[in-house]
Amino acid sequence: MNKPVWTAKVLTLFPEMFPGPLGCSLAGKALDKGLWSLEKIDIRAHASGKNASVDSTPFGGGPGMVLRPDVIQAALEAACSKTRPIYLTPRGNQLDQQRIYRLAAEKEITLLCGRFEGVDERILEAYDWEQISLGDFVLSGGEPAAIALIDACVRVLPGVIGNENSLTEESFKEGLLEYPQYTQPFDWEGRKVPGLLLSGHHKKIREWRRGAAEQITKKQRPDLWHKHQERRKLMKE
Ligand SMILES: C[S@@+](CC[C@H](N)C(=O)[O-])C[C@H]1O[C@@H](n2cnc3c(N)ncnc32)[C@H](O)[C@@H]1O
Repeated sequence: MNKPVWTAKVLTLFPEMFPGPLGCSLAGKALDKGLWSLEKIDIRAHASGKNASVDSTPFGGGPGMVLRPDVIQAALEAACSKTRPIYLTPRGNQLDQQRIYRLAAEKEITLLCGRFEGVDERILEAYDWEQISLGDFVLSGGEPAAIALIDACVRVLPGVIGNENSLTEESFKEGLLEYPQYTQPFDWEGRKVPGLLLSGHHKKIREWRRGAAEQITKKQRPDLWHKHQERRKLMKE
């Protein structure tokens, strides 16, 4: 019997959007090799009643449509989720690399992609959804957020990235952004690659990269830099 692989279950009104970009490049190759799997649950297939509608107008008035709780419930039950389901929403906690590692360590994840004005609040109250946001902006639907989240999980699954050192030396690994990268040509329009990187002196290169990562983090993301320093202080105590 085949070993179960990490599975992403996606509840969506637009199953044709999947795998989409997840069928290309690294994630697509890993999908073809069976290193992860994708299950699409078409929310529309779970609508019942005379009109089989998935949404309705908001009580109290206001613009747009809201996804019905009974339809989402039926779709969620069809997913037979073994883990806490996730609703992608601008209200959620912002996604970060730590959460990606945690989700990639689960056997499966179940994602609900909202549309229109979102979902009826009662379905959120009735099930213990984890709520995750991609950032402080509004997408037209949860699908692009689901694709981004799945892509970030898949690349950290065992065997997906050929050289796993890529994962140990990347942004957020130690709470810092990544150091600058250079490749050929050595001299591009008069801009030369820092000479030390050609020295072959691994310890000095490591130190240079560490210093550069700290400078970039300090400049670009003072919030991350502050957290990094706090963590270092705690480790020293
Ligand atoms: C047009 S949005 C609804 C926005 C909602 N009326 C609000 O103001 O918060 C439709 C769906 O897109 C998804 N979505 C939008 N922005 C998102 C974000 N930043 N992160 C994750 N999902 C998002 C959610 O699933 C949401 O239900």
